[in-house]
Amino acid sequence: MTATTVAADFIHVFEPGSEPARRPLLLLHGTGGDERDLLSLGHTVAPGASLLSPRGKILEGSASRFFRRLAEGVFDEADLKRRTDELAEFVLWAQERYGLPAPIALGFSNGANIAAALLLQRPDILAGAALLRAMVPFAEPPRADLAGKPVLILSGAFDPIVPKASAERLAWQLGENGAVVEHRVLPAGHGLGQADIGLLGDWLARH
Ligand code: MLT
Repeated sequence: MTATTVAADFIHVFEPGSEPARRPLLLLHGTGGDERDLLSLGHTVAPGASLLSPRGKILEGSASRFFRRLAEGVFDEADLKRRTDELAEFVLWAQERYGLPAPIALGFSNGANIAAALLLQRPDILAGAALLRAMVPFAEPPRADLAGKPVLILSGAFDPIVPKASAERLAWQLGENGAVVEHRVLPAGHGLGQADIGLLGDWLARH
């Protein structure tokens, strides 16, 4: 199998945008979602942007994810590393196939966690990232050159899945590596609401 075959081996949707000045969005769904989940959010928060949306390849029961976990919030880091490289190769393949510049990731939950892993393990792949309900992906993160890369983290103060300290540590780790991090904690749980949409739209309009 060639590298291209492996990389392209993600079920995905690509919707070309109407505004070439806007960065494409790499949409990464949460556990149990699929490649269609975040399309309407993408259209709402980045009107006219191209949307690239893969489906995670791991199945937990019937729920799709981007990498394996051993328990809720306990990640199989060997698998995470491998799946992060696989997703990076897919993004490079899609950039060539669809003629795209480096995308901004918009990830929710499990999708936000692999987007954070992409930033730390393959820092050249993304132009930036909006991480919704994200936590630290690696216990010992690799050093990465994220100089000037914009990152928005939106956390929920009452999120039962993401510990407050984990989101704070992620913001710190990304900032330590040079990313320009904006971390907002909303009066919300794990689910997304209108406040997320407003903040996302404003942040994306600036990047
Ligand atoms: C994860 O497994 O990535 C996190 O626990 C979030 C989730 O998908 O539930």
